[in-house]
Amino acid sequence: MSESQIERAVELLKKGQVVGIPTETVYGLAALISSPEGISRIFSTKKRPFFDPLIVHVSSKKMAETLTTDWSPVADFLAEHFWPGPLTMVLPKSEKVDPMITSGLETVGIRMPKHSLALSLIDRLEEPLAAPSANLFGKTSPTTAEHVRSEFKEENLLVIDGGACEVGLESTVLLIKRNGEQYQLSILRAGHITQSVLEKSLTGARFQFLFTESIDRRQSPGQMKHHYMPEIPLVLVRNPDLTGQDIRQIAQNKIQELPDQVEGVQIKKVKQVNKMAELVLPSDPALAARLLYSELRRLSENKSLDLLFFKFMPEHGQEPWLALMDRLTKAASLILQ
Ligand code: TXA
Ligand code: MG
Repeated sequence: MSESQIERAVELLKKGQVVGIPTETVYGLAALISSPEGISRIFSTKKRPFFDPLIVHVSSKKMAETLTTDWSPVADFLAEHFWPGPLTMVLPKSEKVDPMITSGLETVGIRMPKHSLALSLIDRLEEPLAAPSANLFGKTSPTTAEHVRSEFKEENLLVIDGGACEVGLESTVLLIKRNGEQYQLSILRAGHITQSVLEKSLTGARFQFLFTESIDRRQSPGQMKHHYMPEIPLVLVRNPDLTGQDIRQIAQNKIQELPDQVEGVQIKKVKQVNKMAELVLPSDPALAARLLYSELRRLSENKSLDLLFFKFMPEHGQEPWLALMDRLTKAASLILQ
């Protein structure tokens, strides 16, 4: 079954089409990096603005090296340690990478996904695949093949079914700059692989590095305030004293005042809050991450609901929750402090 899906995917990709692929993080919408037609089809299918660069997926370290002009010792070490896995390294791009993929930036995001079907597809193609998450721009990311199919109903898209994603949140995006032996690192998007985990392994290997916040928005486009939006407005409740009745009333009033769009992303709103539901996640952050997007989709399908809310707990301030809270904050129409 999956073998014939891979054969079909190879054919389509070589013709400049896009294909849904499983990875351990979320499903991707892939095209061959050598196909300008395929790459532009990714943007048009997703309705994604051209300023937001795509991640390039490889199946070997050797393939990754061809995409950058600086495969540094740190890049090599991190690839050795964390690939295949949810770590994207942003490195100076080589000529092999079409500027449409990087939105004109001089850097490229590269990762090796930890999913046997994605890896065998790339192996068969003998070429990397550019792939963003397979959702419409600004919407909740897909963690099953069915999510992808329902997102692009009209497209007659081939989606390779690799089951539910194990990690459930997008990869950590790490910008790596170097000055000789010194490395400057910035996490552009939080993910399953946290700063402490990276620090620990780099310190163990005696690298000289410094983590800094990237404040230059040009280095990390795509870091919009809103993203991952479910179909029903989500309210993030940070104030522990608010009762259900308070949440309903305050949300109803405040939601009216929200703009319809922020940075091109449509903000979910509702006129009247009659029925609402709490988004409840497991207390283990890895399990919670795995379930987040499918829970947002499942609750959104309930047409009798007007609003979802999530209660922030003190433990959600700890590092293992950082990526999940980043996604929830961006998915929320409103935050009640
Ligand atoms: O886990 C993942 O990373 C998934 C799977 C499919 O691999 N992909 C994914 O792609 O989340 P996407 O397009 O939804 O998000 C890519 C992120 C964006 O925030 C983008 O701005 C950033 O990576 N990015 C990509 N290339 C970059 C670059 N050269 N410089 C800075 N940021 C970059
Ligand atoms: Mg995405």
